[in-house]
Amino acid sequence: MSPHFHRGRRLRWNAQVRDMVRETAPLLAEDLIMPYFVVETDDQSFRKEISAMPGQYQLSLGELEKQVERAVDNGLKAVILFGIPAQKDEQASGAYAENGIVQEAVRRLKHRWPDLYVVTDVCLCEYMSHGHCGILTPGGAVLNDPTLPLLAKTAVSHAAAGADMVAPSDMMDGRVAAIRAALDESGLIMTPVMSYAVKYASSFYGPFREAAESAPACGDRKSYQMDPGNAREALIEAQADVAEGADALIVKPAGPYLDILRQVRDAVNVPLCAYQVSGEYSMIRAAGRNGWINEEAVMLESLLGMKRAGAKMIITYFSEILLEKGLVR
Ligand code: PBG
Repeated sequence: MSPHFHRGRRLRWNAQVRDMVRETAPLLAEDLIMPYFVVETDDQSFRKEISAMPGQYQLSLGELEKQVERAVDNGLKAVILFGIPAQKDEQASGAYAENGIVQEAVRRLKHRWPDLYVVTDVCLCEYMSHGHCGILTPGGAVLNDPTLPLLAKTAVSHAAAGADMVAPSDMMDGRVAAIRAALDESGLIMTPVMSYAVKYASSFYGPFREAAESAPACGDRKSYQMDPGNAREALIEAQADVAEGADALIVKPAGPYLDILRQVRDAVNVPLCAYQVSGEYSMIRAAGRNGWINEEAVMLESLLGMKRAGAKMIITYFSEILLEKGLVR
């Protein structure tokens, strides 16, 4: 007589059957995008560990090249670049300077590794003296429409330097359309825009702001980044960016927002990228270093969850380690 319950263990009985029925493919090297922080400095041997992100560094151009060399040898296929300029001002002029730090880094990497896929983060906060992602009024309000031409100029200068893809992370309204139009006018019709369409005002970005020296000097980013309590708004943002011409979308942070990732996956048809942000990285590292968790296993499980939720690409600070240890091929 057969019992009245579900024998789920039949298909978990051995590794062979588990491999046969697993729905979500394991992580692949081509899913991973590794972030790098590049510093504009004359000291070509500059390399500084980010205290809140053990194992991650601010790097001079020379050190970036060394770091990427090791990673490429281990199988890294894609990077996303963040710049830390020597000088900041109220127009973020370093963001779109012909010889700005990101533009130079793109030229270096593409010259040395033409097949490495180079994505650039398009934002102004690292280049603004006040650390906000747009132009600020004397009263401290972030202006939307006057910021758009600066973002468009930044994206065009990255693409002109050879970036394969631009990723606007500022959360100004209308920036995807502005960037798409500017790229097209410059003849850069084949450069895709992967927008941070769904970016929450998250405390998980804390360590990044040390890494990129981009903490806002006053106030916070809640007037432009999304409220963590909102899910339906994420679908509006995602659909708006697709309508404006985004080729792919980012959901960020990733781990605490997997429900959002899944809903966005079901709502639009462009490829999705999950951004496992600095705070997510730091927490896993810290627990791992203390021996409280099996760090490698948790790393892989956290990223598998993102794929299961609907991400294809993943921006993660673990990319280098996963490849180096052969955990992903
Ligand atoms: C720039 C930007 C931020 C991150 C990516 N692009 C910081 C912010 O919005 O304050 C966060 C990435 C991370 O935490 O790893 N606007």
